Amino acid sequence: DMHLHFREGSMLELVAPLSAAHFAGGVIMPNLVPPVDNINRLNVYRSAVIDACRDHTFTPYMTIFFRDYNESELSTFQDQIIGVKLYPAGATTHSEGGVRSIKEVESTIKIMEEMGIPLLVHGENTDGYVMDREGLFLPTYAVLAERFPKLKIVMEHITTREAITLLDRFENLFATVTLQHLIITLDDVIGGLLNPHLFCKPIAKRPEDRDALLSAALSAHPKLMFGSDSAPHPVNDKECCGCAAGVFTAPIALPMLAELFAQNNAIDRLQTFVSDTARAVYDIAPRTKKIVLRNEAQLI
Ligand code: DOR
Ligand code: ZN
Repeated sequence: DMHLHFREGSMLELVAPLSAAHFAGGVIMPNLVPPVDNINRLNVYRSAVIDACRDHTFTPYMTIFFRDYNESELSTFQDQIIGVKLYPAGATTHSEGGVRSIKEVESTIKIMEEMGIPLLVHGENTDGYVMDREGLFLPTYAVLAERFPKLKIVMEHITTREAITLLDRFENLFATVTLQHLIITLDDVIGGLLNPHLFCKPIAKRPEDRDALLSAALSAHPKLMFGSDSAPHPVNDKECCGCAAGVFTAPIALPMLAELFAQNNAIDRLQTFVSDTARAVYDIAPRTKKIVLRNEAQLI
């Protein structure tokens, strides 16, 4: 699972085993308070994650929160992380310390390119209309891909048809997609009775976007990886006025993907989508894990 929010403390202990039961590894996001942006915090957080996964076979692929880093800082992280996660300031949960202007942080990005450290990006323009925020950010991806041709750039949790098109334009662009964005549209969030549990950033888009994402996933697009973006919040923060963004899918992500692929006669591509592509893109080899999926009803 190439995009996961595990949180800290009792929430971490509650949710980590649910992902670790199904997945061989996962990319752990750094948007904590304070963010994971120094080596001590990273080491302490990794240990807490490993402890929380208990006896499950699960490799946590850690990330650090993007800020201006110099080369010596990045070299202390390099062996311990899979990438650096860039959030535009204020784009989502706990991203206030994110980047205000990408131009101003190009020196760090350049060092990452030289060191071979992937850049993972929450690609939304914060000043745009909510349905257009990802679309408005796509030119920034194109600029980054062109200016830093050796940098691996992962467009996290893409939600639009245009993002798939962009993915095919640049060799150094890759992407993750969530379960919910393969299944729902904005209609499911606000079209009837408001469903706060389906509210996340980026928000679910139009049917044609969902269809483009689903067909790319079902065809095992070679640069599209599964990343659930499972993002748990306490129920009081979801079922309230000012609902927090995040869809919590950890316990049902793999079974629902299996169902979705089976319904679309693509079960033979599931392994590629949830595993082989990520292994190839990131050149990683977590310990092998075998999962048995049973075709039976489950109440969510
Ligand atoms: O909906 C979201 N929730 N999107 C993100 O990018 C972050 C996440 C969270 O951490 O809650
Ligand atoms: Zn996320």
